[in-house]
Amino acid sequence: MENNIFLQVEKTYQFMKDVFIELGISEEDAGICADVLIASDLRGIKSHGIGRLKMYYDRIKAGLINPKTDIEIIKDKKSVAVWDGKHSMGHVVAKKAMQTAIDKAQKYGLGSVAVRNSTHFGIAGYYPLMAIQNNMIGMAVTNARPSVAPTFSYEPIFGTNPIAFSAPSDMEFPFLFDAATSIIQRGKVEVYNRKKVDIPGEWIIDNNGDFLKNPGEIIKKLLNKNAALLPIGGLGETDGGHKGYGLAILVEILSAALQNGSYLDDLSGIKDGKNTYHQLGHFFLAINIDFYTDIDDFKKIVGNIMRKLKNSKKLSKEQEIFVAGEKEFYKGPEIKKSGIQINPGLQQNLKIIQDELKIKTKIL
Ligand SMILES: NC(=O)c1ccc[n+]([C@@H]2O[C@H](COP(=O)([O-])OP(=O)(O)OC[C@H]3O[C@@H](n4cnc5c(N)ncnc54)[C@H](O)[C@@H]3O)[C@@H](O)[C@H]2O)c1
Repeated sequence: MENNIFLQVEKTYQFMKDVFIELGISEEDAGICADVLIASDLRGIKSHGIGRLKMYYDRIKAGLINPKTDIEIIKDKKSVAVWDGKHSMGHVVAKKAMQTAIDKAQKYGLGSVAVRNSTHFGIAGYYPLMAIQNNMIGMAVTNARPSVAPTFSYEPIFGTNPIAFSAPSDMEFPFLFDAATSIIQRGKVEVYNRKKVDIPGEWIIDNNGDFLKNPGEIIKKLLNKNAALLPIGGLGETDGGHKGYGLAILVEILSAALQNGSYLDDLSGIKDGKNTYHQLGHFFLAINIDFYTDIDDFKKIVGNIMRKLKNSKKLSKEQEIFVAGEKEFYKGPEIKKSGIQINPGLQQNLKIIQDELKIKTKIL
């Protein structure tokens, strides 16, 4: 703990924006990328904020992400659009796609955009929250490079495929479920690795089905396909592993099949032994509540559901009952005050970027 430092939020945002600009991204797009990353840190999601900057830095430098946004509209028919992201920054493609879905929902009641050939877009929850600003339901899903095994397999053949769904409520915060369909996602393994702490649960297996605990070993084995993350519910069917597996494939289908995109092991970023584009697919949906019912009635019902859940009988007096989106909503003000915690492993990564790109906004 003693070697951790805390970075001021504004400065961290500016640092990330400067890094993206130095990497050849336009000022406007760099602002979008930095905003999605800082939103993750402000929600207390350490795996997808500044902790992920080095991944984007490495991929842009390696030519695996196109810093210049280049979106091709493949189809655009009333409430539906299909885009090709041409390996541009996923955050920028995703933000524009969600905005288009919202614009379509304004006009048609529903709006959806399916995207192929995109890149890692950060936290999925950022995009449905844009729908909330417009009194709409929002949903975003994406496939990801393979790291998870199907029930009864040890082969990491599909990604951590997150689902993010948000609905406005009359509470202080909207309902926002935003999580991977695997028990643990890759970014959290990296967080354990930077902290040099073993993985606590039975969440990751090797090719013999034995549980792995050492995050450094897991990261190497995941790259060589000698380890696999488990879907929500874990190993086998006993604890419902098949349900997490099913949800992940729901995401895979929405993220690949609707846009004639790549899927499963074609997203590994490796072809014929060489690094290549990840070719990710995303799917965004906006639902205009106003076309269905009165917005205030809707918010009240969602709020009532959330309040009832929160007031359900507690297993233990000390433990608070939460609803999805709640903890992260209240993290923001705390983190703005305390700053963003950066452990020594992350400090090292950021120092490399700061020095190599000669970034003016010094954070270390
Ligand atoms: N882009 C990608 O490829 C990719 C892949 C995987 C995950 N992610 C992102 O990583 C982030 C973290 O994912 P994760 O799987 O580690 O999430 P997680 O396991 O931390 O679960 C988070 C979700 O659970 C809710 N939650 C937490 N405690 C709760 C409680 N006690 N009661 C009710 N709800 C509760 C949260 O509000 C949130 O909606 C997400 O933002 C996700 O989109 C991105």
